[in-house]
Amino acid sequence: MNFLPEQLEKYVDAHTGEEPEILKKLNRETYAKVLMPQMLSGHVQGRFLKMISCMVNPIQILEVGTFTGYSSICLAEGLKEGGMVHTIDINEELHPMVVKFIKEAGMEGKIKTYIGNALSIIPTLEQTFDLVFIDADKINYSKYYELAIGKVRTGGFIVADNVLWSGKVAEPIAKADNDTKAIMAYNDMVMADPRVEKVLVPIRDGLMIARKIT
Ligand SMILES: C[S@@+](CC[C@H](N)C(=O)[O-])C[C@H]1O[C@@H](n2cnc3c(N)ncnc32)[C@H](O)[C@@H]1O
Repeated sequence: MNFLPEQLEKYVDAHTGEEPEILKKLNRETYAKVLMPQMLSGHVQGRFLKMISCMVNPIQILEVGTFTGYSSICLAEGLKEGGMVHTIDINEELHPMVVKFIKEAGMEGKIKTYIGNALSIIPTLEQTFDLVFIDADKINYSKYYELAIGKVRTGGFIVADNVLWSGKVAEPIAKADNDTKAIMAYNDMVMADPRVEKVLVPIRDGLMIARKIT
C-alpha cells in the first residue's frame, strides 16, 4: 500500500536503514501466507518504531496487536538490557509463526506473547510501561488508551498506528464507517487529554504519539 506518491515512497525507502534479514524474511512470509498482510508495519515504519524504542530505551513495552510479530521485533530492538515487550493478539492461528520468528530473531527472552482479547488482558498486566504501541482493532482504540494510560509512567509514551486511516479522517464520513469514526474519536480524545503532549506524525498511515506528562 502506498501512502505517498510512488516516487517519494521509493525515495524514503532508499534513505531509511535496511531491514535486518529476519524482518525481510518475516515480511515475505507474511505476504505469502497470511490474510491482509498489509497490516504489517513494514520497512520504514518498522525502522521508525525501532528508532522510537532506541530513543526511549524502555524496560517494559506493551503492544496491542502482534499480528505476525514484525513490530514486536522492531520494538524489542530498542529495549534496555533485561527489558520485555508484552504483546497481545486475539488471533491464535498466527501464534506458531510469531513464536518461530521471535526465536529466529533471537528475541525469546525479550518478547512475551499473550493470546486473547486485549480488553481483558491489559487490566491483568502489573507492569509499569515506558512505551505502548496500539495497533489492533480500530473500534477499541480509545478503550486501549484508557486501559493503558494508568499503567504508563510519567514521561512514557503511547503510540497509535493508522490514525490517518488512509486519509479518511479528513474526508466526509460514510454513515456506516465505524472504523473511521473510531479513529477520529481517538485522535480527538488524545488531543483533548491534558495528561499528555501529542503529535500526529504523518508517517505511513499516521502515528499519534502521546507523552504522559502527569
Ligand atoms: C494491524 S494488525 C497488527 C500489526 C502489527 N502490529 C505489525 O505492525 O506487524 C492488528 C492485529 O490486531 C489483532 N486484534 C484485533 N482485535 C484484537 C483484540 N480485541 N485484542 C487483541 N488483538 C486484536 C488482530 O488479530 C491483528 O493481528
